[in-house]
Formats: sequence, structure tokens, C-alpha cells
Amino acid sequence: MPPQYRQAGPDNPSRKVITHVCGIVGYAGAHPALPFLLEGLERLEYRGYDSAGVALVESEGVYVEKAAGRLSSLVAVVDKSRPAHVGIGHTRWATHGPPTDDNAHPHTDCAGRVAAIHNGIIENYRELRAELEKSGHVFSSETDTEVIPHLLEAGEGHSLGERALYARGRLEGAYAFLAVSADEPDAVVAVRQASPLVLGLGDTGNYLASDITALLPYTREVMILDNGEMAVVTGRGVEIRDAAGLVVDRTASHIEWTTEEASRGGYPHFMLKEIMEQPDAWADCLRGRIGADGAVILEELGLRPGDLERVLRVQLIAAGTAYHACLMAQRWLEEWARVPVRVDVASEFRYQHPILSPGTVVVAVSQSGETADTLASVALAKDAGFPVWAVTNVVGSTLAREVHRVLYTRAGPEVSVCSTKAYTTQLLVLALLADALADVHRPEPRSSVIPHLQSLPALGAAWLRERRDLGASVARVAAAPSVFYIGRGLDYAVALEGQLKLKEISYIHAEAYPAGELKHGTLALIEPGVPVVAVATSAALMPKVRSNIMEVRARGGSVLAVVPESLADEMQDLADAIITIPATDERVAPVLAALPLQLLAYDVATALDRDVDKPRNLAKSVTVE
Ligand code: G6P
Repeated sequence: MPPQYRQAGPDNPSRKVITHVCGIVGYAGAHPALPFLLEGLERLEYRGYDSAGVALVESEGVYVEKAAGRLSSLVAVVDKSRPAHVGIGHTRWATHGPPTDDNAHPHTDCAGRVAAIHNGIIENYRELRAELEKSGHVFSSETDTEVIPHLLEAGEGHSLGERALYARGRLEGAYAFLAVSADEPDAVVAVRQASPLVLGLGDTGNYLASDITALLPYTREVMILDNGEMAVVTGRGVEIRDAAGLVVDRTASHIEWTTEEASRGGYPHFMLKEIMEQPDAWADCLRGRIGADGAVILEELGLRPGDLERVLRVQLIAAGTAYHACLMAQRWLEEWARVPVRVDVASEFRYQHPILSPGTVVVAVSQSGETADTLASVALAKDAGFPVWAVTNVVGSTLAREVHRVLYTRAGPEVSVCSTKAYTTQLLVLALLADALADVHRPEPRSSVIPHLQSLPALGAAWLRERRDLGASVARVAAAPSVFYIGRGLDYAVALEGQLKLKEISYIHAEAYPAGELKHGTLALIEPGVPVVAVATSAALMPKVRSNIMEVRARGGSVLAVVPESLADEMQDLADAIITIPATDERVAPVLAALPLQLLAYDVATALDRDVDKPRNLAKSVTVE
């Protein structure tokens, strides 16, 4: 394939700017707004961000200041003498699209009298922008967000609340936005549609934030906006209207969390928070990437007709958890698309004089986009003239800048060293890629995997809500010197990830094997009480896995089985403990199986009082060889 791929960057019109994990703050009250806005944004810094901005409402217009980079860059340029008592502030963490001054929020209307900030994805922003431009609106950024102030401007003559309701009716997607207008200098309007938004009630003013953390030093009395609701917040009070425009009577809740707990969403560790966030991250990851006809849309790849047909081989390169995602993807790509795939650990690939045949696309997978070995492998593949794509979670990372094309995982910032949501979103992106390749390489009719991918967020959320008690299994694993994980096919790939999670945060020795391989050596280590975690999501492979489990049981091993509800009966007579996951299509079931494996590692590590979020000797981003 000729090197026809353009660098991902501002010159690429096909990219979509998405800011789904941004921090939002707003204030209306008796005090100058700016100190709260800046402090609130600082309190949201832990979420990660790449630009920041504020808007203050003044009678002659809206004062807006914004800056790419750290909050300190904004603090350096913002006019701190502004006395405005109403304002909004924003930290943006771009999951797709460059973190520039222009793309930073707030965005304004043509007259500079309305400003808006937003967290989420406006799915129909292209259509809205085209419509607004046609009627004379002038845009100055490439974001989806900017349609909001222009939609509000279009409703001139009406109250800001009415204009917000109008905008809500026009916007499609998952979002939360705040807006202010110089025409109503005492109010902030807020709309929530699937992205979080909290109102805080204070004695001398009222607050808004995407996250309770920002509010805690000011108030502990909060109201959570529900989907579809709009609120008008002034220093005097708060009026909430529901999707039908009717006033909602909402009582405030008192929040007991400490600030530190709040920064973890009330969870004791970032890892648990990030495990629980996965269904939302999956939904974000899939958003806009599947057409109404069920076809995969990977517009970031900028593909031209015939490009995917010309992909004859795929070389996957990664390290650690991302390597395990690649091992799952290899099976998907080969099975669904019948395209041969090779997977290499980056630290090996770079020194093994790899043979890359014509027609190979190299795909580097890395949550941080900074892993030194992965970057070196990418450089090698590029030098050899091959197209290189990346799957990463961090916009503007070195990897994203170095490769020809990027698919972002959109998991949001992952703070815990132990990767969870970055891993499962890598799986989803790679599954989409496999399906897209299958479409062109195997056009014959087949049962689509897409509806099953789309159902994962709901299934995962339901499972996590009930969060199975792993009870006795946790104690058994926590007391063991060694734990083995077994699985076949896709389940082997997820077992590898499961054992790594346990090792990383509990410091217990763990190993994963293809279930059929155990008898070729490792079975010698199975003696009474040794825990073996068996992942078995495939009905077809179940008889084989059952035989392998019997081999373990015959030596006294203690088996914890992870199976779909539909196959639970198969384990009743065999396993010491069974964790069921929701029944789903076998091709994607291992994504759900990752959840109990993550939680098992987490529960064991907390039982052992380990430093879960910062395990010893490990780093989130490994920028050295
Ligand atoms: C470190 C992290 C792992 C990660 C690996 C590869 O070891 O602790 O969670 O899997 O690096 O990192 P990458 O950012 O390239 O995915």
C-alpha cells in the first residue's frame, strides 16, 4: 500500500473533535465569580485536561479568556480584576482533536454576547453548523461545541432559559452544557443530556459543576440534574425544568464525602472508579462509529475506496495490557476477516529485524501513547515505508503525533496505574477495526457482531450495578502464593490480562495458560488448594475446558470459573466457585469477562491492603526502555 496516509492533525478535515471528559464549573451569586471558577477548575485538574478557559458576564458583553496547556497558562493571562458575579469555566481533555487555544472552551456567538462550555459529543454538529453558517453565523473553532452559542444566539429575543430549551431540542448526542449571556447578566443556564452535571446551593450564591469535587469547599447541598433537564441558576435560586418544559420540584441532598473521596467519585480508589466507568467509556468509544445500517465508520482513518481491501496483513505492536488487547484482536481479525495477524511485544519487535511483507498495516496500541518501546517500533515500521496506525487514549501523545492515523479509545483519563477502562476500550476499537476489515475481506452474509458490541454498555452496567460478591474466592486467592488462569481462544487472551491485573496490584505470583497447555508442565504445580481461575465463555470449547478443569480438580486445585449465565450449569459440578457474566454473543463475551477478573484483582489487593492505584515498582507511562 502506498504511504497515502496523512498525519492526524488540524489539516485533516475528517477528524471529529470530541471533549467528553471535560471539567465544567459555573457560578452566580453575591461574590466575584472568578476565584471560584479558577479554584473549581483546579479541583477538577485530577481528571486530566489539555486546555482551560473562563467566561465572565459583563453588561457590555462576555469576557472570555482561554489557553491551551495547564491551568497556570490561563491564570497567567486572565484579568483577575474583573468583578463579574456570574461566570463559567472549563477544562478540556480532548479525546480526539488538537488541544489548541481556538478549540478550548468557552465558545461564543457571533456578537460575543453569549458564551457556552460543554462536556460530551454533539453528534449532529455538522448538520447544525452547516445550517447556522447558511443563515450567516460565523464559526471560529473546529469543535462540535461551537454550535451551542450560535443556536442560543439564533433564539435572540427569548429568555436564555427558553433559548437553552430550544438548543436542547436541536442537539443530538450525550452532553452537558452551561451558557451565559450579556442580555441576562445574572444567570447561568445548564442543560444535561447524559453527561454529569451537579447544582450546588450556597448561602451567597449557587454553583454548577460536572463533578461534586469542585463544589465541596463551598457547599455540601447539591442537586443532581437528570437527563433532559434544564436549569436556570441565579444568585437568588435555581429553577429546573424537565424535558417537557415543566418546573421540577427537587430537594437538595447533603454530601458527606471528603474532597479526596469526591475526586474519586466517592470510590475508595481510582481503579474501582475506572472499573465502574467502563460501560460509559464503552458507549463513548462506540458513539458515532457505527452507522444506521450497522456498518462501522472509522472516519479517523481517512480511508479511500479500496484501502481496506489492500490490507493483506496486520502487524500489532504493544506492551503490557495493550499487548493483551492485541492478542484478543488477533483472534478477531483472523477469525472474522481472515486477514493474517502477527502480534509482537514492542520491546521485542524493535530488535528482531521484523519481516513486514507488502500490504501490511502496522497498528500500535498504547493507552498512554508514550511507551518508549512502542514508539521505537513505530519509527522502525515507518522507516520501512509501512502505513502505521495507532490505537491510543491520549490526544496529542507522541504516538498520536508520530503515526499516519489514530483511532482514539475515548476512555477518558485513566489515573490508576493498573489499566482497566483503557484496556476494554482498546478491545472495542480493535473489534470495530476487525469488523470493518471483515466487511471487505469476507463480504458473504454473516451474523453481525455489531449489535452485540452495542449491547455491551448496558450488559456491563447491569453486571457492575449488582456487582457479584466474589466472597470466598477473594480470601482463597489472597492467601495463595500462586494463582493460575486458564482459558481457550479469546478466553486465553482475557485470562492473560486477568493474571496481569492480579500480579500488578496484589503482588501475588500469577500465570495464564491456554487451558490445553497446562498438562505440558504447569500441572506439576497444581496441588491441593492452588487457585485456578478458569474463563469459559464459549459453548463450543466448553467440553475441552471442562476436561482441563477436571485435570486441575484431580490434583486438588481449587477452581473459580467465570462463565456466561447461559453456561453456568456446565460448571455446577466442577467449580468451587462460579462467577457468571451476562449471556451474550461469544465473540464479545470475553470483554464482559474482563470485569470480574479486574474486580477479583482489586478485591484481593484491597484485602491485602496494597497500594492499589500506585503499585510498587510500576509506572503508568513507561518512557524508558
Ligand atoms: C505500563 C502500564 C501498563 C501498560 C503498559 C503499556 O506498564 O503500567 O498498564 O499496559 O505500560 O503502556 P501503554 O501506555 O503503551 O499502553
